[in-house]
Amino acid sequence: MTRIAVDPARRVGDLDRKVFGGFVEHLGRCIYGGIYDEGSPLSDERGFRRDVLGLLRELRVGVLRWPGGNFVSNYHWADGIGPKDDRPRRPVLAWGGEESNRFGTGEFLAYCAELGTEPYICLNMGTGSLEEALAWVEYCNGAGATARARQRAGNGHEAPYGVRYWGLGNEMYGAWQVGVLSADEYVREASRWARAIKMLDPDAVLVSCGMNGWSDWDRVVIDGMAHLVDLHSLHIYTGSDDYWTNVLQPHQAERAIRCARALIERAAYVKKIARPPRIAYDEWNVWFRTHDGTLEERYNFSDALAVATYLNIFVRNCDWVRMANLAQMVNAIAPVVTTGQTAVTQPIYYPVLLHARAALAVAADVHVDGPTVGPPQGGQHSRWPHRVADLGPFSLVDAAATVSADRRRLAVTLVNRAPDQPEPIEIVLRDVVFDGIVEVASLTAEHASDGRALPDVEGVRLEEGTENPEGPALALTLPPRSFTVIEAATTGP
Ligand code: AHR
Repeated sequence: MTRIAVDPARRVGDLDRKVFGGFVEHLGRCIYGGIYDEGSPLSDERGFRRDVLGLLRELRVGVLRWPGGNFVSNYHWADGIGPKDDRPRRPVLAWGGEESNRFGTGEFLAYCAELGTEPYICLNMGTGSLEEALAWVEYCNGAGATARARQRAGNGHEAPYGVRYWGLGNEMYGAWQVGVLSADEYVREASRWARAIKMLDPDAVLVSCGMNGWSDWDRVVIDGMAHLVDLHSLHIYTGSDDYWTNVLQPHQAERAIRCARALIERAAYVKKIARPPRIAYDEWNVWFRTHDGTLEERYNFSDALAVATYLNIFVRNCDWVRMANLAQMVNAIAPVVTTGQTAVTQPIYYPVLLHARAALAVAADVHVDGPTVGPPQGGQHSRWPHRVADLGPFSLVDAAATVSADRRRLAVTLVNRAPDQPEPIEIVLRDVVFDGIVEVASLTAEHASDGRALPDVEGVRLEEGTENPEGPALALTLPPRSFTVIEAATTGP
């Protein structure tokens, strides 16, 4: 039996919808053959796959990061504007193959407008220059009569796009990154870029390139740049064939958030920074099976539980995590997969869908009291070096809650990690009571496909029902291996 106490009056923080963000990279079939498929009967006149757009729209993507990822570190944006047939083909250093440049800045920003999401562009700090980065910002946001602003108008977009989010390079610490830098080199270079970009566009929201949250790289970058940027980025990938490792490893993100936050708070105090940066988890996902140039990972339901847990973690920490980008959206380590004829979903699609649909304006404090599970020992089961053995024990049921600004609506998201056992729970509200019918949606593994699921992977069953609680407590039973969302009206002081 697990007791979940929710106190709507104890605010964790405002939930930024950008924690339901995504990421699309020029990698495998993510862009070409994924979101963009020129000449397909499934695409609109611009080449945007309508079926993919439909599935992504349901996820209410709060922000979309592009064009990479590792790809960006030899991407030259000016190759991707103007008449498509005149655009040069270039070698792709990160993933191999060639880039046609037929999908570029104008296409990406039109896609964001169509999806109703905020664009977030990552700058090339590998082979790119500061001059080129400034030209990109000017091209997107210049309101005057400057050359780049006029060039944009000439390409059919008179009004500035108003791109606010700009990333200062991608994983510049990595040996796999074109133009890899040491932390000191990065701080020197990225500081020059940050200052110049803010001079050109004071509204630019800048993201420094962090690593995992606890590394020396993070420490040096935060110490050197916390006064210049608005967000510090972290990346995390987890995953394992071992069930417990797979479903518990996302808790490493909580350690990462604590560590990055401590580094930021220290820098803010020592350096007297009035508005220190918050965290952008601008790549996160389960990913451990594929490592070729396509990353066409096939997901199962335990991956879906891990994804649900990641989102619980971002909600619980939303005072510090202001953005999080599921890496990626289509075909490459993605919830949506395409063929020439259709677009279908993988199990990880559904926790994102349910979370984004239910989340309300403010995260509220949750206390979970019930059975716990010991951490998987080692980390030897995983491709990734995330040891969580020292983090547990973990509650069997992972929970997060949000409330509306007026506290009249409540949403609780619950992951039951027990593989075979149902878990009886009781949700107890403090100071308020349930007001009428409560909606309950539960995801469980299901081998029969719902018609839009990928035929060769484990399917998902979504059951929706209602409960009629009395007073401040709601009792129900979570199915084994499940993700459940409870949405309710409340009344009280
Ligand atoms: O998302 C796949 C890759 O993972 C990205 O290109 C890179 O930033 C990270 O290493």
